Amino acid sequence: MQPPIRNRSLKSIAIASGKGGVGKTNVAVNLSVSLARMGRSVMLFDADLGLANADLLLGLRPTKSLHDLVTGTADSLEEILVEGPDGLLLVPSASGIGSMANLSPVEHAGLIRAFSTYEKPLDVLIVDTAAGVQDSVTSFCQAVQHVFIVVCDEPASLTDAYALIKVLHQEHGLRRFRVICNMLRTPESGRRLMQKLSSVCLQYLPDVLLEASAMIPMDDHLRHAVQKRTPVVSLYPGSPSGRALIDLAKQADRWSTGEIGLGGIGFFVERMLQSA
Ligand SMILES: Nc1ncnc2c1ncn2[C@@H]1O[C@H](COP(=O)(O)OP(=O)(O)OP(=O)(O)O)[C@@H](O)[C@H]1O
Ligand SMILES: [Mg+2]
Repeated sequence: MQPPIRNRSLKSIAIASGKGGVGKTNVAVNLSVSLARMGRSVMLFDADLGLANADLLLGLRPTKSLHDLVTGTADSLEEILVEGPDGLLLVPSASGIGSMANLSPVEHAGLIRAFSTYEKPLDVLIVDTAAGVQDSVTSFCQAVQHVFIVVCDEPASLTDAYALIKVLHQEHGLRRFRVICNMLRTPESGRRLMQKLSSVCLQYLPDVLLEASAMIPMDDHLRHAVQKRTPVVSLYPGSPSGRALIDLAKQADRWSTGEIGLGGIGFFVERMLQSA
């Protein structure tokens, strides 16, 4: 029998990038589906408060969202959750909230209550964040144990990734970042990209630890999967991007949860709201 959630530790991972359109949502969705397929209880939190689309990539149609929890039209987390492949649970985004920093004390307390009374066992929480360096992104990144930064081989992607790392490090004290190089035309371009980001961090943010976690090729299978509203790891698991994303999930499955994981999802939401 699964132990109750309070005694089970939760691994929490945020996917961020700085620049938009570099593949965050695809990484978040495919990582979630791969971990769920490996037998983990996974919750995917769509934290893009502007342009939510994790539901689209999963072919799901939520009727409620985090917005209903905040405004009180939903009382519990269960009411808004939507089930995806292999039991994966999606927390649909709260378009309309704008920022977690603007919540009233009542909304704030309601959100914490809804998450902390959630009793079902959960192993992994994956948070898909919006583009940019706004408060909502930094507060989500600060609340998790592991942060992925997605970059692609474009100057704007590199400068925006660096800007986000700088804010998270200097203003929020984060030190360790795991880098995902996406949409790579050649393996060599991934190595060069990683080298450029590492050298600028080494020069200006010497305490930051960067780790290359995945090299995901530019892959038409992934584009086709997006059009089919099915994750590439389900539709084309043997494709170049599918294999890279499944390997990433195996890697993430080996990470430790640390002490903050013991507080479960209620603790994650408290940390997120404290930093908002
Ligand atoms: N490895 C890849 N190969 C080919 N196309 C890709 C790859 N990764 C992402 N894309 C393309 O880029 C598009 C944008 O991806 P995605 O929505 O995941 O980015 P995002 O960073 O979440 O964007 P936003 O900042 O708007 O939230 C996808 O619809 C897909 O067409
Ligand atoms: Mg996205």
